[in-house]
Amino acid sequence: MKEILLKKFEEVFGSSHDVQIYFAPGRVNMIGEHTDYNGGHVFPCALTIGTYAAARVREDDICRFYSMNFEELGILESSVSGLKYEKEADWTNYPKGVIWAFGEKGHPVLRGMDLLLFGNIPNGSGLSSSASVEVLTGYILRDFFGYRVTNQDLALYGQYAENHFNGVNCGIMDQFSIAMGKKNHAIFLDTADLSYEYAPLVLEGYKIVISGSNKKRGLGDSKYNERRSECETALSELQQVIGIKSLGDLTEEMFETYKSAIKDEIRIKRAKHAVYENQRTIRAVDALKKNNLTEFGKLMNESHISLRDDYEVTGLELDTLVEEAWKQEGVIGSRMTGAGFGGCTVSIVKEEAVDSFIQNVGTAYKEKIGYAADFYVVEIGDGPCILS
Ligand code: GLA
Repeated sequence: MKEILLKKFEEVFGSSHDVQIYFAPGRVNMIGEHTDYNGGHVFPCALTIGTYAAARVREDDICRFYSMNFEELGILESSVSGLKYEKEADWTNYPKGVIWAFGEKGHPVLRGMDLLLFGNIPNGSGLSSSASVEVLTGYILRDFFGYRVTNQDLALYGQYAENHFNGVNCGIMDQFSIAMGKKNHAIFLDTADLSYEYAPLVLEGYKIVISGSNKKRGLGDSKYNERRSECETALSELQQVIGIKSLGDLTEEMFETYKSAIKDEIRIKRAKHAVYENQRTIRAVDALKKNNLTEFGKLMNESHISLRDDYEVTGLELDTLVEEAWKQEGVIGSRMTGAGFGGCTVSIVKEEAVDSFIQNVGTAYKEKIGYAADFYVVEIGDGPCILS
C-alpha cells in the first residue's frame, strides 16, 4: 500500500520528498443506533478497512487535495484561511472542515499541505468513510504541527466540522469509534458524558458480515436531521413532566409512565426507539460479557425491528437484507447499522455458513430489488496510525 501511495503522490504532486503515510479506520456499529444524539449508549468498533493518506506539509498556506477514489476530480486546491463549505469542493469539504475546526478550537492552521487519499471503505456504504477522513485529517494536523490534543479531541473536532462546516447534525459515535478504535474490541460508549469501556468482541467461530445495499444516500439529504429534531421536541415535551437531561436518562418503564406528555404519535414512536434502543444496548453488552452471543444476536434483531417500525429509517433495501439474513442458517443476529435509509447491515454469521449466506441473501436481494448487494467480511482493527 505504502509504495502505491508514494508512487501516486509523486505522479500527482511532482515528488514524494518528505511524505508520510497515515491510516484511519472505518467503523461499524454493532448495536445502539440513533442513540448518540439522545444521550444514550452505542457499541461500535473500528475496522481494518479505512482511509490511507500520503501527506506533506507545505511552506505556504495552500492545500492541494487528491483522492484516488475520485480521480476524475483531479487536484482540488484551497487556502487554509477563509474556509467555508462549498458544494463544488466535493469530498475536500471533509478535510477542509477539520482544518477550519482546529482554528475554531484555538489551534489555527497556518500552513497548507499536499494530501493524497485512498479509501478502501466503499463510498456511501454506511461504514463512515467521511468520519474516517475527518479523524485522519486531524491526526495528520497533530502530527505536522504538534498540537497537544488527544484522540478524543480529534473525534470531537471531526464531529464539530461535520456539524458546523458540513451541516450534518451527527452525533459523536462515528468519529469517536474511529479515533479510539482498538483491535478485537468494541467500544461501549455513554454519549451522555463520553465515558467508555472496551469490550472484547472475539467471536470464536463467527464472522462479522457487512451487506451493502448499494442504495445511494448522503446524510445531508437524508431525513437524519429531521429524526434528530423530532427527538429534541419529544424531549422538551417530556421535560415538562419529568426532570431529565436526555432520552437516555429514561428506562422503558419511566417512558411508558410519562409518554403521554408527548403530543404526537410519530414523536412518541421516535422517542420510544431512542429509550428502548439505549436499554437494549446496555443489555446487549451485558449479554456479551456473559458470553451469551445468542442473546446479543436477539437484541440486534430487536434493534432492527425498532428502527424499522418506530424510528422508520430502514426502507425496502435494508429490510430485505435483514429479513433474508434472518432466514439463513448460522445467523446469530442481523440489523441495519449506521444512519439507515440506505447504507448497510451488519450480521454475525457462523464461519462455515458465510459463503451460503452471501450466496442466498445476494440472490434474494437482486431478485427483489433489481440490483446487487455487496458483501464484506470485516475484522475489528485499531484507531488511526502513522505507517512511516
Ligand atoms: C450516523 C451518525 C452517527 C449516528 C448514526 C446513527 O452514522 O453520524 O452520529 O447518529 O448515524 O446511530
